[in-house]
Amino acid sequence: PAAPRLAGRHILVTAGPTHEPIDPVRYLANRSSGRQGFAIAESLARLGARVTLVAGPVALPTPPGVDRIDVETAREMAAAVVAALPADAAVMVAAVADWHVAAAPQKMKKGDALPVLTLAENPDILAGVARGADRPRLVVGFAAETERVVEHAVAKRLRKQADWIVANDVSGDVMGGAANAVHLITADGVETWDRLPKAVVADRLAERIADALSGAA
Ligand code: C5P
Repeated sequence: PAAPRLAGRHILVTAGPTHEPIDPVRYLANRSSGRQGFAIAESLARLGARVTLVAGPVALPTPPGVDRIDVETAREMAAAVVAALPADAAVMVAAVADWHVAAAPQKMKKGDALPVLTLAENPDILAGVARGADRPRLVVGFAAETERVVEHAVAKRLRKQADWIVANDVSGDVMGGAANAVHLITADGVETWDRLPKAVVADRLAERIADALSGAA
């Protein structure tokens, strides 16, 4: 039988939210479930890739054949991603927190004055990978938008120096849900896919990645 399409390839995937501690018992987070990223990791592994999945805190089983590294914060995710390179492709699906908190070393107590959270910017993992010396041949980012989805995603592709952006409209029930409606934005233009189960989006994207790495697209 022919070798699977992604045999011999290493693909890095990030997925899930990050948690940014406020104090030892509290954190900032977002509604990402990790489902789309885990589905992509599974599809890529099924096509024969060696997949490193850097996962934020999610309640999902590790897909068969995938090497999983669990992290909590954006800064931990950035370090795990750098450590996992080189890769033939990187698919950055994680909903990385834009900010971390100047965290209190002890649990904050209720008192007279309301606490004020001081935020600091997190590293942009996707932009760092796309500009780095170890840049994978194919860098794919995601864009979760609630308005002017394609316009924002086209701008994001250029700003982050990604090859492709998968844009989804998260104004409805996409985050945490089972289906996704995406646009694939490449240097050649914009493709709008039907609303599909996340597993089907994952399989289609994995096939496209296999095409790109084999030079067919
Ligand atoms: O800028 P924005 O968060 O909308 O970009 C989304 C894309 O960038 C996703 O691919 C996400 O995984 C990635 N990203 C990242 N590190 C960040 C912020 C976003 O890798 N700090």
